Amino acid sequence: MNNWKSLYIYFISGTGNAKASSEWIADEAKKKGLKTVIQQIDRLENIVMPDSDEKPLIGFAFPTHGFNAAPIMLKFIAGFPRGLSNEVFLLNTRAGMKISRLFLPGLSGVALMLPAFMLMLKGYKCIGFRPVDLPSNWIPLHPAIKKKVVESIFARCEKIVRGFAGKLLSGKKVYRGLFSLPVDLLISPVAFGYYFAGRFFLSKTFIASYKCNRCGLCIKECPTSSIKYVNERPYWKLTCESCMRCLNRCPEKAIEAAHGMAAVFWLIFTLINARIIILIINTLNIQPEVWWWKLATEVISIIGMILITSGLYRIMHYAMGFRPVKYFIRFTSLTALPFWRRFVFIKKNKKNHNLI
Ligand SMILES: Cc1cc2nc3c(=O)[nH]c(=O)nc-3n(C[C@H](O)[C@H](O)[C@H](O)COP(=O)(O)O)c2cc1C
Repeated sequence: MNNWKSLYIYFISGTGNAKASSEWIADEAKKKGLKTVIQQIDRLENIVMPDSDEKPLIGFAFPTHGFNAAPIMLKFIAGFPRGLSNEVFLLNTRAGMKISRLFLPGLSGVALMLPAFMLMLKGYKCIGFRPVDLPSNWIPLHPAIKKKVVESIFARCEKIVRGFAGKLLSGKKVYRGLFSLPVDLLISPVAFGYYFAGRFFLSKTFIASYKCNRCGLCIKECPTSSIKYVNERPYWKLTCESCMRCLNRCPEKAIEAAHGMAAVFWLIFTLINARIIILIINTLNIQPEVWWWKLATEVISIIGMILITSGLYRIMHYAMGFRPVKYFIRFTSLTALPFWRRFVFIKKNKKNHNLI
């Protein structure tokens, strides 16, 4: 049986799902008389760690990004000190949907397995992990879910998360994430593709349209400090994790995922990349079938994709000063369509959990 005196949750949340989950768990812990501290790990700044005499149970809550934990959480866990407590738990929020009365789950991939393994290597015992299918916030892929549906998904998930917390706090182990292990293992290669390549491409698909009034909210709110002003307009750096906070919070709805621009980048990259690979083969007289060259081709393509996309993004950023470019980008951005809703933020209870 446990003898925890406190609960510390470290969370990262683009659009509030992991934050709400952390608050629900903290609520349950408070009912059991535990001191609760839930801390947002934005920019990995001012993180408060528990003292060992607080006998803490430590939790980590984060969204799933590309079938993996959000990169900032992986970085946080990699640098997390050893020996702060015996037990930890993990919660990943995923892309939940609802069609008619049917609640559809997202996919975790390695989002739970990898952090659990990293914490295990640090000597922590993972007493529970669970995916939670809160509303999908992947707005470049689909318009945001309608408010009524969001509310219904939230109500269902609140019960699930509180139940999860109740079991953990009463000393039970909950490994709910294991249910989908076969599928998660099957898609795990995509997680690594996303981590090492895909996310860098996505970071270069955001633009601030002519609606931007330079209020600076996106820069202030970005959890990874990935937005800065270049040429007097917001510019997204490669460190952007596409958490969707900026796109959904912008009061002017000025931030778009530029689909047309991304398609042009991809086309140019594909054309240039193929030529670079052929040039290297011919210059160095390489047999294209050898295994090491196949591996090298992948690495060259990833590095090429990051460099070419970044270069093109900077050019486009300046070119947006010209009307045709500005309008091409805006009118080929699906997120600019009138029916493409932004994420609906649910107002959470305002209980005091020492939210840092
Ligand atoms: C870039 C990106 C990648 C995502 N990848 C996945 C994924 O692989 N699997 C999944 O179920 N949901 C995925 N989602 C959806 C989010 O994980 C989900 O909406 C989550 O609840 C958001 O939590 P938050 O509001 O705390 O950021 C992704 C969302 C974004 C923006």
